[in-house]
Amino acid sequence: TDLAHIRNFSIVAHIDHGKSTLADRLIQATNTVPDRDMKEQLLDAMDIERERGITIKANTVRIEYDALDGQSYVLNLIDTPGHVDFAYEVSRSMRAVEGSLLVVDSTQGVEAQTLANVYQAIDADHEIVPVFNKIDLPASDISRVAEQVEDVIGIDASGAIAVSAKTGEGIREVLEAIVHRLPAPTGDADAPLKAMLVDSWYDPYLGVVVLVRVMDGKMKKNDRVMFMQNGTVHQIDKIGVFRPKMQDVKELGPGEIGFITASIKQVRDTKVGDTITHEKKGCEKPLPGFNPSIPVVFCGLFPVDSAEFEDLRDAIEKLALNDASFSYEMETSAALGFGFRCGFLGLLHLEVVRDRLEREYDIELITTAPSVVYNIYMKDGTMQELHNPADMPDLTYVDHVEEPRIKATIMVPDEFLGDVLKLCQDRRGIQLDLTYAGSRAMVVYDLPLNEVVFDFYDRLKSVTKGYASFDYSIEGYRQDNLVKMQILVNDEPVDALSMMVHRDRAEMRGRAMCEKLKDLIPRHMFKIPIQAAIGGKVIARETLSALRKDVTAKCYGGDATRKKKLLEKQKAGKKKMRQFGKVEIPQEAFISALKMD
Ligand code: GTP
Repeated sequence: TDLAHIRNFSIVAHIDHGKSTLADRLIQATNTVPDRDMKEQLLDAMDIERERGITIKANTVRIEYDALDGQSYVLNLIDTPGHVDFAYEVSRSMRAVEGSLLVVDSTQGVEAQTLANVYQAIDADHEIVPVFNKIDLPASDISRVAEQVEDVIGIDASGAIAVSAKTGEGIREVLEAIVHRLPAPTGDADAPLKAMLVDSWYDPYLGVVVLVRVMDGKMKKNDRVMFMQNGTVHQIDKIGVFRPKMQDVKELGPGEIGFITASIKQVRDTKVGDTITHEKKGCEKPLPGFNPSIPVVFCGLFPVDSAEFEDLRDAIEKLALNDASFSYEMETSAALGFGFRCGFLGLLHLEVVRDRLEREYDIELITTAPSVVYNIYMKDGTMQELHNPADMPDLTYVDHVEEPRIKATIMVPDEFLGDVLKLCQDRRGIQLDLTYAGSRAMVVYDLPLNEVVFDFYDRLKSVTKGYASFDYSIEGYRQDNLVKMQILVNDEPVDALSMMVHRDRAEMRGRAMCEKLKDLIPRHMFKIPIQAAIGGKVIARETLSALRKDVTAKCYGGDATRKKKLLEKQKAGKKKMRQFGKVEIPQEAFISALKMD
C-alpha cells in the first residue's frame, strides 16, 4: 500500500470509557470480520482481561475502509494497554502510530487515566481526535465534556465527534476523521530496513509472535533480520497482518504494521521498543529512546503446601516465557520455606500474575507484602538495591537509604476531596497542585511509592465511594529516614513480615501490626508475645493469651462424631497454617496484617 493511503492510530481512554467497544464497531462497520464471527470485545483476548475488563497486552487490527472520497484506505489500529503499570508499553506503541482517538465517556468526563494516556499521545506528537462516547445514555453531557477537555487537557474540542459505540451512531464520522484528520505515515521504501518492535507474545504453535511497525525499507519472508539490542539474528518464517486473525502477506513496507515469526523461543529475547533491521545492509542507527521496562514492585510467592514448590517453579517459568517484564529468583524463607522473589511493573501486574498462577496452574499461594526497590548506600561508598526487606544489611554499615517517589494525579468529585487529601497526607504525601474542572478536583501529590503499593487503591476507592480516578508515574529516588521493622512471634523473627517503614511511623505501624496479628493468630496452649522491633529494639508489643481448654472439651463425652468433626475441621485449618517455631500462623495473616486502616 502506498503511504498516502495508510493511517495508523491508537485509541486512548480511561478504563471503561468504551475503547474496546469502539474498536469493535470500527471493525464491524468496515466488514473486517464477518458478522457471524463478531463477538464483544474482540481485541481482549486473554481470559483474565475479559473477566477484569481490562486490556493488558497491546492488540492490533488492520481495517480496510472505503472512504466517502471514493478511495480505499488501510487503517491500522493499535489497542494500547490502559493501565499505568504498562506505561512503558503504551509509550512505545504510541510511537508506532501517528494519531489517536481520545475517547471520553460523555456521562463521566475526563479521568486520571484519560490524562495520563493523552499526554503520552501528545508526547508522541500525535494528531488527536476527541470522541465523546455513550451519547445514547440520558446522563450524556457533551458540552460539559468538551469544556473539560479544553480546560484540563488543553486541546481543541471543537471538532469532537459524538458517538455511541453501543448503537453505532457516529461511527462513520469517526472513520472519516481518521482518514482526513490524521496524517499519513512517512518512510523510505528504498532505505535500509528499520522496524520497531512494538510488542511480542508467545503462541504455542508459532513460538514468539512479534508485532512490528516498519519505518523504512521492507521486510519479507525468509529475510534474515537482526534485533539490534542484543544483536541476535533470526530468519523470518511467517509475515502477516491482523484482521484481527492472522493473515499472511508478501511483505511489509514503510508505514505498515504487522507481525513476524522467526522461530524465537522466548518473549524475553524480544524487547519492546527494540529496532529490527536486516542482518546484511542493515540500518546504522537504531530508533531512539529504547528503555527496557523494569520491575518496581517485588514480593515473595510461596506455595501454601510446600510439596507444590516444583509445580510453582514450572508455572512461574512458563509464565515468564511469555512476560518479559516479570522477573523471578528463588528465595528461601525461614518461615515460609522455598519460594520465589518476583518483580512486577506494578500492583495490577502483580495481581494478574498471582491470579494466573492460582487459577491456571491451580497453586495456592502465600504472597508476602509487596515492597519497592530501595537504594541502600553503604558507609564504604557502595550502593546496593534492596528487593526484599529481609535482606536489609545491618544498620551500622548503612549510610543512608533512598526510596522511589511517584507523582500521583487523582481526580475526584469535590465532596470527597477532604478525605483524599487526608489519605495522601497520611501516606507521607506532599501536595504539588490542586485545580478544579467544574465540580471535580484534580490533585497532584508527590508520594513514596512504598506507601502506595499496598492498599492505596483500595483505600482511595473506599473513601471516595469509587468516584476517584488515579494515575501515577515514577519520578525518582529520594533519601528519607527508612528502617527495617521486624516482627517477632514468640520471640522468633518472622522474615516474611519484615518491612521497610519510615522511622516516624514505625511505632504506629508496629502497634497496628501487632494488634492485627493478635487477632489473626489463633490462641495456643501457651502465651505468645508478638513484638515489632527495629534493630534489637522492641517498639511495640502485644500478648496473645494462652488457650485454657482443649477444643473438644465442650463436647461432653459421648458425642464421638461431633468430636471427630471438630478435629477434622482443625486439621483442614492447619493446612493453611505455617509453623513458626512452636506457633502456627494462618496464611491470611501475611496479607491482612499489613493492611492499614
Ligand atoms: P478497557 O478495555 O477495560 O480499558 O475498557 P474500555 O474503555 O475498552 O471500555 P469497554 O469498551 O469495555 O466499555 C465499558 C462499558 O461501557 C461496557 O459495559 C460497554 O458495553 C459500555 N459501553 C461502551 N460504549 C458504550 C456506549 O456508547 N453506550 C453505552 N450505553 N454503553 C457503552
